[in-house]
Amino acid sequence: MGSIVLFGPPGAGKGTQAQRIMEHCGLPQVSTGDMLRAAIQAGSPVGMDAKAYMDRGALVPDEVILALIEERLKDDDAANGVMFDGFPRTIPQAEALSHLAEITHVLAIEVPDDRIVERICGRVTCGSCGTVFHDTFNPVPSDGCVCGSFVEKRRADDNESTVLSRLSAYHEQTSPLAAWYDERGLFHRVDGDRDIGEITADLLALLN
Ligand code: AP5
Repeated sequence: MGSIVLFGPPGAGKGTQAQRIMEHCGLPQVSTGDMLRAAIQAGSPVGMDAKAYMDRGALVPDEVILALIEERLKDDDAANGVMFDGFPRTIPQAEALSHLAEITHVLAIEVPDDRIVERICGRVTCGSCGTVFHDTFNPVPSDGCVCGSFVEKRRADDNESTVLSRLSAYHEQTSPLAAWYDERGLFHRVDGDRDIGEITADLLALLN
């Protein structure tokens, strides 16, 4: 079994879809964004360095990200592959990854820029279990989160000015990966400007 990459701009729905298809694929979600936020929370040197980049919506340097990924891939649950969410984001990251894991699918969730700000600025996450919701598009159920103990959490970088910087970083540094993976026959596109369940169905069809 190989690994899968979920690809797309900030707010495309990579995390939302990873949570929905993870169980089906039997692969753990590996989100570099979540790993960096955990490092910040823990007050580690990596987290302290990364915070300045994240706060201004810039990419964290490749060597920092690659060190985190190399460590994560040593864990037992990564032995049969993982589902990368938000990694790789630069050509050097993709080149390094090609020596660390076998990628079978790169699934691109495509969403136009003008939908991104409203998605990100309305995002709310359950601090207890990590489930992602949206104030309007995917509200927390009236009887609470599936985990039974909803704790509202919002990200420091989920504001309009940082989102615009994150989008620029995506277009300049990450979108060239589409052609890189296309040349290798691994790239698949899904229209991400639709109902969450329809997107999940398309992603699962591509994986089957
Ligand atoms: P990261 O945490 O990876 O953020 P991101 O890529 O900007 O992606 P998001 O988590 O914002 O969006 P998502 O696609 O997961 O969307 P979600 O499902 O939550 O990275 C943060 C920062 O860390 C980066 O800026 C960078 O500094 C650093 N970093 C991380 N990885 C790095 C790397 N590899 N290299 C260098 N730096 C790195 O959905 C968003 C909202 O929309 C939610 O509210 C959701 O409910 C809603 N939604 C989802 N789908 C739909 C739908 N179909 N219709 C309507 N609403 C929807």
